[in-house]
Amino acid sequence: MMQSNLHVAIIMDGNGRWALGRGLPRVAGHNAGAETLRQIVEAAPDCGIGALTVYAFSSDNWKRPEAEVGCLMELLGCYLAAETPRCIANGVRMSIIGRRDRLPPSLRSSIDYAERETRPCNLLELRLAIDYSARDAILHAGVLAAGDCAAGGTITRERFEALLGESRPVDVLIRTGGEQRLSDFLLWECAYAELVFTKRMWPDFRPSDLQRAIAQYGRRERRFGGIPQPAPTANHHWLR
Ligand code: FPP
Repeated sequence: MMQSNLHVAIIMDGNGRWALGRGLPRVAGHNAGAETLRQIVEAAPDCGIGALTVYAFSSDNWKRPEAEVGCLMELLGCYLAAETPRCIANGVRMSIIGRRDRLPPSLRSSIDYAERETRPCNLLELRLAIDYSARDAILHAGVLAAGDCAAGGTITRERFEALLGESRPVDVLIRTGGEQRLSDFLLWECAYAELVFTKRMWPDFRPSDLQRAIAQYGRRERRFGGIPQPAPTANHHWLR
């Protein structure tokens, strides 16, 4: 049976290597990666995905050469502006996670426009992580929690999750590009995520790869620290 309303997170890695392998500048890989994202967003609802969070720019990516950072900021702005009408037509709500104060004003305007216009959409929630660091997000929630405690409040896991912002547990985390690490992405939300790593570079990732990753997830047994569920048998009442 196909699962539904999954939260899938994707680390879209390998754009640079994809481009360099073709004798192209790294930014050509990012452009191709943006096209791949369009296809994956379109395919996501049919794969049972209700929320998709993608790592578009990490807080550590500011360390990249200024020219590449500039191109990425421009590409993100263009993506948001161009995709907003398509998202409205397809029922995709867009939102951004991460810091906004260091982003160029034009990108912030595109974010505001995309979030405002797609707010009523409810088929798929697409979250773009931009200037995002999971450790910073957890630290920020911790500071807010300390304030709550000082005011006499009690911090529960649920309260902490609320302070973390729009967070929900990730069911499947996919990383393309052959590396096998989390790179400061959704560390809290991935506590029990199933990890799927593929050598395919992000620009080569296709909806069929997404379907395969979801099928792989469907074959895994999620126990959340419990024990395997016994398979139902004809005399299972003996176990009660
Ligand atoms: C990792 O590839 C990818 C990024 C740092 C940025 C992700 C950006 C995109 C997929 C394109 C644009 C996205 C949107 C939302 C418009 P890398 O450069 O680290 O590749 P490498 O590991 O081969 O160097």
